[in-house]
Amino acid sequence: MFHIDLRGKKAFIAGIGDDQGYGWAIAKALAEAGAEIIIGTWTPILKIFTQSWAAGKFNESRKLSNGNLMNYLKVYPLDAAYDSPEDVPAEIRENKRYAEVARYTVSEVAEDVEREFGKIDILVHALANAPEVKKPLLETSRGGYLAAQSSSSYSFISLIQHFGPHMNPQGSAVSLTYLASERVIPGYGGGMSSAKASLESDTRVLSWEAGRKWNVRVNVISAGPLKSRAARAIGHTGGVSFIDQMIAFSQANAPLQKDLEAEEIGQAALFLLSPLASAISGVTLYVDNGLHAMGIAVDSPAFQGQEFAAHAHLEV
Ligand SMILES: NC(=O)c1ccc[n+]([C@@H]2O[C@H](COP(=O)([O-])OP(=O)(O)OC[C@H]3O[C@@H](n4cnc5c(N)ncnc54)[C@H](O)[C@@H]3O)[C@@H](O)[C@H]2O)c1
Repeated sequence: MFHIDLRGKKAFIAGIGDDQGYGWAIAKALAEAGAEIIIGTWTPILKIFTQSWAAGKFNESRKLSNGNLMNYLKVYPLDAAYDSPEDVPAEIRENKRYAEVARYTVSEVAEDVEREFGKIDILVHALANAPEVKKPLLETSRGGYLAAQSSSSYSFISLIQHFGPHMNPQGSAVSLTYLASERVIPGYGGGMSSAKASLESDTRVLSWEAGRKWNVRVNVISAGPLKSRAARAIGHTGGVSFIDQMIAFSQANAPLQKDLEAEEIGQAALFLLSPLASAISGVTLYVDNGLHAMGIAVDSPAFQGQEFAAHAHLEV
């Protein structure tokens, strides 16, 4: 019988700000398998995250199947848009949510994790940001586009660059992408579609470079829609939020007609990050109820009255 046992392994997960997102679901799956969890939380929301944790707001979501609560070794402040202290502009450094915190750039966090906990085995990038995400690409400014690239895709390169030397051989890294990288999804703007395309391409190149340099595997999960905090920020069209539309579209059109649960992305990540995936590197793994495979929207008015399910059944 196959069993995933990650006891004795340490995982650094960048991009947990609450218990609603994919980063949380991946942390939970890793904790279920026995891994020790180290978290990187975006600097401006560090306080609210740690206070909410201490106040017990996440207790329900922290419950593991053995009855224990998921714990972490430490939560670090992290702003993955900056590699070292010299990169942080004065207005950010002096902002009150940054001024009271130190050592939140990627290189500093990587050094601190190594010093405090030794080498890690698992690296998760579960973060994205685009200041102009509500704007179509055609209206996106150069600054907005580059900011999306910096926070959402270069940040993965930076994490691997700085954590790679502090990873054990046979380690593994995973990030999260979205179908908008390769298919047009109006509404996913501000250069986020381009940032996800970069992330997927970089995954292939990094799998080669990190594989040869540190014997570390690098993969990316293309996840279906989830109503996380980041997804809720994408905006509205016609009074309905973008993410609600994407969830409804997926339920109507994906091969698997069921809700997509964050836990399913957690489980797929656990597999990719575990020794069961020891020969898998450089892949984009779709965890989206199969939606990426579709070439038509079966709920389109063009197919009104057509019974796709019954038709498929007759053909079998
Ligand atoms: N929600 C979806 O439908 C969906 C679908 C496919 C892929 N994804 C991807 O999943 C990943 C996680 O997002 P989520 O939807 O679970 O939302 P989320 O809000 O839980 O996670 C995004 C996190 O990124 C953090 N962050 C933003 N800028 C940062 C920075 N500069 N440095 C450090 N942290 C920063 C935020 O604080 C937040 O905690 C993202 O890469 C997202 O694009 C999400």
